[in-house]
Amino acid sequence: MSLRARWLQMLASQAGRAGLVSLTLGLVVLLWQPTDAGWWAARLLGAAALMLTASTLFLRPAPGRRPLHRIFGWAALAALVGHVTMTTAFQPVFWRWLSPAVPIEIVAGIVALLAFLVVLLVQRSRVIRRRLGPFASLSVHRTAGYLLMAAAAIHIALISGMIMLAAAALLAGLAFLLIEGLVRERHILRLVITLGLFVGAIAWLAMGSMAETRLASLRQAPIDHARFLHTDHTGLACAGCHHNFVDRTGSENCLTCHKRISVSETTRIDGMFHAFCSDCHRRDKQVGRKFGPIDDCNGCHGR
Ligand code: HEC
Ligand code: HEC
Ligand code: HEC
Ligand code: HEC
Repeated sequence: MSLRARWLQMLASQAGRAGLVSLTLGLVVLLWQPTDAGWWAARLLGAAALMLTASTLFLRPAPGRRPLHRIFGWAALAALVGHVTMTTAFQPVFWRWLSPAVPIEIVAGIVALLAFLVVLLVQRSRVIRRRLGPFASLSVHRTAGYLLMAAAAIHIALISGMIMLAAAALLAGLAFLLIEGLVRERHILRLVITLGLFVGAIAWLAMGSMAETRLASLRQAPIDHARFLHTDHTGLACAGCHHNFVDRTGSENCLTCHKRISVSETTRIDGMFHAFCSDCHRRDKQVGRKFGPIDDCNGCHGR
């Protein structure tokens, strides 16, 4: 083996290891945050799906090796199906997001799910494999595998949002795994183009006038006021929530005004109010006080 090849191999394995450690760190920080009882299962299954998928990169199938790649792949699929079932079947409000105004983090999650289907189909379907031929099938299988990793990591990093350490560790972990991939992969161009298209599409949906157009359906949807009661929130200073009393934006209802300013991914009413309401409930739970719903959609919606 030439010196250069050996050096590259070392770089790949160190980057891969750093990637796994960094992803684990991000997930631990995230799982450390309090949540509602039912969400533990959904979160753990999602985290397991990401780690199992990442592990398949290191357990590449080879003649004479145990079939770990395949076993981890199926386990990742089981975890992913569990995660999707938990979040969509038990949290019916989720389906309200399936409109043009779907949040970017959910778009990334859906891309991860579709990429998993491609990974699986190209491997299991005889018809597709015969059409593509063995080399192209393998290349599609691997490229879709990296896309799956990237979409899943971005999905979780965006959801962790303000927990910067978790988001940074997840994105760093993804970057390390992609370095590992670029060093090892033979179809680099295909990989780079696929990931570039994915990131480009996400940015296009999230920014500027496209975001404003997409969010029109959110601005037009009726407000459900039932979910917030002042009687649950006595003992708090009015101005702690009503910045509108302080900054003289008047006594207009928070929700009608915030609907109107939902023109970008950072000012959209659901994202802002989820952060605002849940962060306080999460802090209260952390210090052992009485608290409201944190991640459980049903706790605030549909009552
Ligand atoms: C925990 C945050 C919070 C605190 C504390 C709070 N509010 Fe509110 N307030 C809200 C939210 C959220 C709404 C909108 C609820 C809705 O319409 O469903 C609201 C709505 C209102 C409205 C109705 C506006 C309208 O036209 O519908 C008034 C008036 C109001 N609050 C006054 C007060 C006063 C006075 C206090 C202090 C005694 C107070 N609020 C404390 C969050 C809070
Ligand atoms: C008249 C319009 C208006 C009303 C009424 C209003 N807001 Fe806002 N709110 C804004 C604007 C504008 C911003 C700044 C948005 C930005 O960051 O670009 C903002 C920001 C916020 C933020 C983010 C603050 C931060 O530090 O990032 C929260 C949370 C918030 N509003 C909650 C509320 C709540 C709760 C109510 C009612 C109790 C309310 N708002 C009433 C217009 C309004
Ligand atoms: C500043 C802190 C704070 C903010 C902001 C806040 N809450 Fe709460 N919330 C609480 C606390 C404390 C309780 C627990 C009250 C109790 O059990 O007596 C609670 C309880 C609740 C409950 C549960 C009531 C029940 O019967 O179990 C709901 C629902 C709720 N909050 C919704 C909201 C919504 C919606 C928002 C945002 C518009 C919000 N909260 C913002 C502190 C907050
Ligand atoms: C702590 C309370 C709380 C929790 C928990 C919560 N939400 Fe919300 N949600 C709100 C508030 C407040 C708004 C803003 C009010 C509005 O848009 O009517 C909102 C807005 C939304 C909207 C936009 C509705 C619209 O058309 O205006 C969607 C969709 C939504 N939430 C989905 C969810 C999902 C899915 C979950 C669970 C993963 C969830 N929410 C958990 C309080 C909560």
